[in-house]
Amino acid sequence: MSYEAVRKDYVKHVLEESDCLENPIEMLENWLNEALKETQDANAMTLTTVSAEGKPSSRVVLIRKLDERGVIFYSNYSSKKASELKENPNAAVNFFWPWVERQVRVEGTVIKLPEAESDAYFKSRPRESQIGAWASDQSDEMTSRDQLEKRFQEVTQKFENKDVPRPEFWGGYIIQPSLIEFWQGRASRLHDRIKYEPFENRWKFKRLFP
Ligand SMILES: Cc1cc2nc3c(=O)[nH]c(=O)nc-3n(C[C@H](O)[C@H](O)[C@H](O)COP(=O)(O)O)c2cc1C
Repeated sequence: MSYEAVRKDYVKHVLEESDCLENPIEMLENWLNEALKETQDANAMTLTTVSAEGKPSSRVVLIRKLDERGVIFYSNYSSKKASELKENPNAAVNFFWPWVERQVRVEGTVIKLPEAESDAYFKSRPRESQIGAWASDQSDEMTSRDQLEKRFQEVTQKFENKDVPRPEFWGGYIIQPSLIEFWQGRASRLHDRIKYEPFENRWKFKRLFP
């Protein structure tokens, strides 16, 4: 198949300066909520981390909370992304919502979520997901699928009739934004782009060429 002929014009919405809120986190929340009306997959975002040697690496994670501190997601603290974040806290996330022809990019530095919040979220997860977190040495190589299934059974037995505690190696991260960009697809590739950056204790936005 030739990908050169795959084309589409973006015509659904516009992004005017007058649509831009003072606080881009509120604006991201509005866009996310709109996107979620179509499908719950809208909470998926591509997270890029960079190793100490400067090699980037991307994968999808789910946004679990958005507040004044930034974008919150959960993961394994021994995974590849976690070891990269430990060496280099700079990260970026990208949302793409084709059904509203929108993209949002967030760049910033990452810190761990306070443990009490990770505990509370872990507690709210389905039991199978809690057990799954214990069973997985995320990003490590394994010998076969059986190894994972066996671990899942072992952990299930270990915590039978007990609450599953949060593993120390699993928890949340906050991406503290230093840049948030809203992209709205427009006709003829004349897309709208609005970039927010912090300025004197508030946010300032600028329009970018598409
Ligand atoms: C839709 C979707 C949602 C995902 N959500 C998460 C998540 O919230 N946290 C997570 O650690 N991995 C999540 N993953 C798995 C990651 O993409 C990735 O495979 C895993 O975190 C290991 O990444 P790493 O080896 O780069 O650390 C998700 C994958 C998909 C496709």
